[in-house]
Amino acid sequence: MVSSQSGASGYGPATALLKEEHDLILRGLAVLEKVAARLADGKPVPPGTVEKLVEFFRNFADRCHHGKEEAMLFPALEAAGLPRHGGPTGVMYTEHDEGRACVRGIAGAAARLAQDPGAAQEIVQHARQFIPLLRAHIDKVEDRHRVLSDLHAEIQDAFNEFSVQIMTPAFESQPGQPVVVPKSRWHAPPADQSS
Ligand SMILES: [Fe+2]
Ligand SMILES: [Fe+2]
Repeated sequence: MVSSQSGASGYGPATALLKEEHDLILRGLAVLEKVAARLADGKPVPPGTVEKLVEFFRNFADRCHHGKEEAMLFPALEAAGLPRHGGPTGVMYTEHDEGRACVRGIAGAAARLAQDPGAAQEIVQHARQFIPLLRAHIDKVEDRHRVLSDLHAEIQDAFNEFSVQIMTPAFESQPGQPVVVPKSRWHAPPADQSS
């Protein structure tokens, strides 16, 4: 198998998509943080602002993004040997649930914002729990992608170095020549040789 060049920390297409979605979610959290800061100072926010944020976190962050993680990424990590109970995916499922509870709290208080003087501070409270929870959660998931990606690259490189081909589930047929790459040619042009 062709060397993946260890240390490249490259993301595969699926995890790259999740990373793009993380960036959007982090931008949503930054907006929520600003809105919560205004409410904490007793300042008004335009009507519908909190509801729009709730819709973003429910539909995009949770249904679309966490839905993909729970349907595809976590089962794939578990199939690769990571345990759910007492393992990282178990913790991440729990964090998704904790985030859902925070968003429910924000939504409930937002519905009372016009008539209940305590609702704004309730939103602030839930937001201040939700924002660090989701930021830490995203950091953790991305770290795991990086570790697994580097580990995968190291394993491929070690096999390659000893001229042993390893197969992936996508393997279809054997080419005429072995497809190992000698270490001396791992970074041959046009590869970037500056690092
Ligand atoms: Fe997640
Ligand atoms: Fe995520």
